Amino acid sequence: MDDLGLVKLANEARNNAYAPYSGFAVGAALLCADGTVYTGVNIENAAYGPSVCVERTAIFKAVSEGQRDFVKIAVSCDRPYCQPCGVCRQVMVEHAPDLVILMGSTDGTFKRTTIRDLLPEAFSL
Ligand code: THU
Repeated sequence: MDDLGLVKLANEARNNAYAPYSGFAVGAALLCADGTVYTGVNIENAAYGPSVCVERTAIFKAVSEGQRDFVKIAVSCDRPYCQPCGVCRQVMVEHAPDLVILMGSTDGTFKRTTIRDLLPEAFSL
């Protein structure tokens, strides 16, 4: 799937975001090496701490289904670019050290980068 197609899927997924506390809806679409796409949304909680970001929703869905090989993830929010938080960067580098990241917007524009660029010298065991 091409970059724009994946950003569009992230945009569609965004409609399912559960973000009543921040009002900041985010969508994601994660492309696996076998061509499967897993979408994700941010899911917030009244206790705040249990909230989960869109990137981790998509990655955990995929890993829990047995996927281990990831190509790229598109993230979309109503901003020029949606930058993944630090916690999600750490999760991405664990499961997909060569991951391409499309930091997208609801208007379909996006900035292409990689997890290596967003999290240099990442911690690992
Ligand atoms: N959020 C994400 O899900 N991913 C990002 O890349 C940026 C921020 C969510 C977390 C929270 O639900 C809301 O956006 C505001 O921070």
